Amino acid sequence: MPDRIDLDGRVAVITGAAGDLGRAAANLLAARGARIVAIDRREADLKAAVEALPASAGALAVAADVTREDEVKDYVRAAIDRFGKIDVFFNNAGIEGDVKKITDYPIESFRRVLEVNVVGVFLGLKHVLPVMLKRDNGSIINTASIAGLIGSADIAVYSASKHAVIGLTKSAALECSGTGVRVNCVCPGLIESRMLSSIMDGRNEKIGERIPARRLGKPAEVASIVAFLASDEANYVSGSSYTVDGGRTAS
Ligand SMILES: NC(=O)c1ccc[n+]([C@@H]2O[C@H](COP(=O)([O-])OP(=O)(O)OC[C@H]3O[C@@H](n4cnc5c(N)ncnc54)[C@H](O)[C@@H]3O)[C@@H](O)[C@H]2O)c1
Repeated sequence: MPDRIDLDGRVAVITGAAGDLGRAAANLLAARGARIVAIDRREADLKAAVEALPASAGALAVAADVTREDEVKDYVRAAIDRFGKIDVFFNNAGIEGDVKKITDYPIESFRRVLEVNVVGVFLGLKHVLPVMLKRDNGSIINTASIAGLIGSADIAVYSASKHAVIGLTKSAALECSGTGVRVNCVCPGLIESRMLSSIMDGRNEKIGERIPARRLGKPAEVASIVAFLASDEANYVSGSSYTVDGGRTAS
């Protein structure tokens, strides 16, 4: 069966593009024909990620902190200056924060997690939506998590921040009523990645046994859903939260 996901000529802005999920999405969207604007605050890793993309992606790297509104405005402007439009926005940068019980959780870390995972996602929506609404076209994919659907001991703040991302997603989708702009989110489960290793560090859990698929997911498997939601194949999909978790939250 031919692959129907076609992003030829689309312009995709990706935050957290130096990370595991951001890199996988950039690779797949570029392979499907998109041009890429890659955003991250880690400049050297961002440069390396962009250099790994095919020349057809015409990739632009913009170092920015998603929690700073001036820097968010700058990356949106940089995308428009280079490509004239934004078709796809993978609003994906996030941090795990500390892995501690609420009773031990430092307030500074609590605030930082909300700042990156909620304020960063909000600012991306705030400044990308007008660009898309002007053309009456676009697809936004926020990265939530299965931690946004269920409780998660020891990462309560992360879980709260991802519940907030789902709320932002649904509300933004409603605010785009009657337009050609769609807003969805992906809820990855346990994905082979730096972030998962950091969360599981020191924990002696056989996590595979709790996943019906009996294995961790791969960043490329999250990217597949991002590519689908980015494409016209998902034209009737908005306000949705797509779990990519091997069945982990099925019960
Ligand atoms: N890895 C998983 O298992 C998993 C599961 C569910 C959800 N997620 C979510 O997926 C997203 C990507 O995670 P990942 O696994 O690729 O993690 P990662 O740490 O590899 O990548 C996250 C990237 O975001 C960047 N970033 C963090 N704060 C930033 C800021 N203020 N400004 C700009 N960039 C910033 C980091 O530099 C990093 O490159 C996150 O939102 C994460 O919460 C990951």
